[in-house]
Amino acid sequence: AAEEGFADAVVAWQKRHGRHALPWQNTRDPYRIWLSEIMLQQTQVATAIPYYQRFLQRFPDVAALAAAAPEEVMAHWSGLGYYSRARNLHRCAQRVVAEYGGRFPVDPGLLAELPGIGRSTAAAIAAFSSGARAAILDGNVKRVFCRVFGIDGFPGERRVEEALWLRAERLLPAAGMEAYTQGLMDLGATICTRSRPSCPQCPLAPRCVALAQDRVADLPARKPK
Ligand code: ADE
Repeated sequence: AAEEGFADAVVAWQKRHGRHALPWQNTRDPYRIWLSEIMLQQTQVATAIPYYQRFLQRFPDVAALAAAAPEEVMAHWSGLGYYSRARNLHRCAQRVVAEYGGRFPVDPGLLAELPGIGRSTAAAIAAFSSGARAAILDGNVKRVFCRVFGIDGFPGERRVEEALWLRAERLLPAAGMEAYTQGLMDLGATICTRSRPSCPQCPLAPRCVALAQDRVADLPARKPK
């Protein structure tokens, strides 16, 4: 099938060509991973890094963040934009302390009930902090799937999105979830970019439907009017 060997190709590429030295990698601390994933929801890696470092210096763990004044949390977020993220971050820290004794739950379903953590972010936190087999599906990953598998519909549409989630679950590897999850993110961010993707560098090119049909520029489909 078109799906055979997909995860292995992503994992092998990640090990050789993916990013390995980002400040939130090489840790299994859910607090650090959570903080990075919230910052990276709407902020580029290079912009997020100095904020991430300053934030951790001032709030080294979830208890420190929960106990802080909202104004101080906001001051450390200031410049990153999308300020509801900072309010949810603070509320999430307070709930982890009050409901879970200061330890993030491992189960992605429980993570996704916390403020600011959607299904994909919950899966990323669980995969990076405990190797959990949970599927991510952010905008970058939707683009990779639409191209590789030649999916035609607009990925913002509910039926298309549901099909993408099913696909994402089916593709999960039996092991190596950290490398697989990071590999999908890195491919979407650095190779399978929205404009001018680097198909000659892509480990999925031999199996990419959009590339074979010369439709890379047309997938994913734009929002219908
Ligand atoms: N974007 C979202 N999560 C990321 C991560 N862990 N590394 C790099 N970019 C990301």
